[in-house]
Amino acid sequence: MKLKFIIMLSFITLSLSPCYGQKNKDGETGRNKSGNAVIDAIMSRRSIRSYKKEQIKDEELNKILECGINAPSAMNRQSWEIRVVQNPEILKNLGSSFHNAPTLIIIASVADNFFSPVDCGLLGQNILLAAESLDIGTCVIGSILNAFETPEGAEVLKNLKLSEGYKPLYAIAVGYKNEKPDAKPRDKEKIKIIK
Ligand SMILES: Cc1cc2nc3c(=O)[nH]c(=O)nc-3n(C[C@H](O)[C@H](O)[C@H](O)COP(=O)(O)O)c2cc1C
Repeated sequence: MKLKFIIMLSFITLSLSPCYGQKNKDGETGRNKSGNAVIDAIMSRRSIRSYKKEQIKDEELNKILECGINAPSAMNRQSWEIRVVQNPEILKNLGSSFHNAPTLIIIASVADNFFSPVDCGLLGQNILLAAESLDIGTCVIGSILNAFETPEGAEVLKNLKLSEGYKPLYAIAVGYKNEKPDAKPRDKEKIKIIK
């Protein structure tokens, strides 16, 4: 009787524990959930390279962008410009380096601000994590810069109408996920704590 009670109690404790084999939104247990939304988004985000054709909702896009511009920036100078391309014809002219995602967010940095690449990087990470929290896939696309070198790409770049001094730094592919890649290994040796 006592043993039965202990087994039951252990079962209840384990199933209530936030880290114990919780199911994700799709009802699968593959990834542990911590019970902390930010940590969950960080730990479950992966670069997505296969997207559904369906466009993401405007409310989702707007929320993701709003989270993006709430990133910190040096002296709050917000040294970025953002262009969102959803037009299939324009996307076609940029090739396929962005894995045929239905939305491409282009992030431009400005030459006269030393911290602009940092600002743009933080902006991008907010975008990635906000999207992940909505179960929307993303992939940072550094190679988009090559696409702007082609004649079609150069035309697209012109039509982005970036302000004087701004140049694309990278892009982010955005769309509903069509794959669930595993996490790539991380090197913990890169961390040294000095006490
Ligand atoms: C600056 C930067 C540029 C990247 N460029 C590309 C790219 O052009 N194409 C691509 O498929 N992934 C690109 N990635 C994604 C990385 O390959 C990916 O983040 C890395 O392999 C770790 O995998 P994870 O994002 O799934 O954790 C880029 C990432 C960063 C931060």
